[in-house]
Amino acid sequence: MTTPLLLTCPVGLEDLVRGDLRDRDGVRSELLGPGVIRCTDPVQLNQVPAMVDRVSIALSGIDSAIDAAGFLGIQQPTFRVQAQDPAVRSDWIGRLAALGWVNEPGDWILNVDTDAQVIDLGPWHWSRRIGHLRRLPATTPGPVAAGLLRLAKLRPGDRLLDPCAGVGTVPIVDALLRGGPSYSIDQDPESTRMAAENIANAGVQQAVSVLEGDAADLPIDDGSIDRVVSDLPFGKRIGSNELNKTLYPAILREVERVLTADGRCVLLSDDKRVFVESVAHARGLKISGERVIRYNGVTPTAYIVRRSRRPKRGRA
Ligand SMILES: C[S@@+](CC[C@H](N)C(=O)[O-])C[C@H]1O[C@@H](n2cnc3c(N)ncnc32)[C@H](O)[C@@H]1O
Repeated sequence: MTTPLLLTCPVGLEDLVRGDLRDRDGVRSELLGPGVIRCTDPVQLNQVPAMVDRVSIALSGIDSAIDAAGFLGIQQPTFRVQAQDPAVRSDWIGRLAALGWVNEPGDWILNVDTDAQVIDLGPWHWSRRIGHLRRLPATTPGPVAAGLLRLAKLRPGDRLLDPCAGVGTVPIVDALLRGGPSYSIDQDPESTRMAAENIANAGVQQAVSVLEGDAADLPIDDGSIDRVVSDLPFGKRIGSNELNKTLYPAILREVERVLTADGRCVLLSDDKRVFVESVAHARGLKISGERVIRYNGVTPTAYIVRRSRRPKRGRA
């Protein structure tokens, strides 16, 4: 099939996706719009960066659906049709069923999205490439977690900490991509239980240590963590803006304590004013970069935080 693949990622990560495709595999691409990239060279499944959520081809009539099935090497795929207009939806279902394909909205191989004018390739979707995790409402989407990890520039053997890890998305994605080691810590017992379950289901128990604990009082040794990557409570679904005024400084004190001398943090927050003020008051940390990411109706900032001075004597 010569039809180019379309990759969808969280808005704000497009340059990282395109850079990885180019630098790792020599795959050229162009930006089609916010969060949508068209590959102008062929792409293999294992070359798709973990920041990519959906992989699709452009929808242009029934031939493009047949092309998509041919690309996957499946003669009669199961399908789903997404369309605002019920008449358009039933028309597409009829045309695909006439090919002998089966309409299975709960277990599709091709998703014909007439609103976005794309056909999603099920086996290339994030959950099929990387894995399926049990989620809570505040769970970080996998591609966003992959983007935060990408910004953290983890090296082999680096010790990673997520002190507000929820169901463990960040450490699990790291374990699957890099092999850990990491700590997945959250103060909520239900989230911690689900993190342990997700870690076991992903088969990464050796790489991730899961603990119930308070990010403001971490059970972690001084100067022992190379990278801290976390989607902090924004104060919308979890906690409150008022709570963050004390929680963020307390978390940053602990981050400063546990971080190695050349450590690096990537902390995601939508409570931007409180976060920036909290770092300004943390004498040993500074913001060295930032990037706005847009997904699921939120536009938080990923802050790169580093030490502004060497740690006190006695720490790494
Ligand atoms: C935005 S969610 C993180 C989602 C997580 N990345 C995931 O994929 O599930 C923020 C998390 O911070 C946790 N949290 C809030 N206050 C905390 C504290 N003091 N110590 C540890 N975790 C805390 C919440 O329980 C919640 O799971």
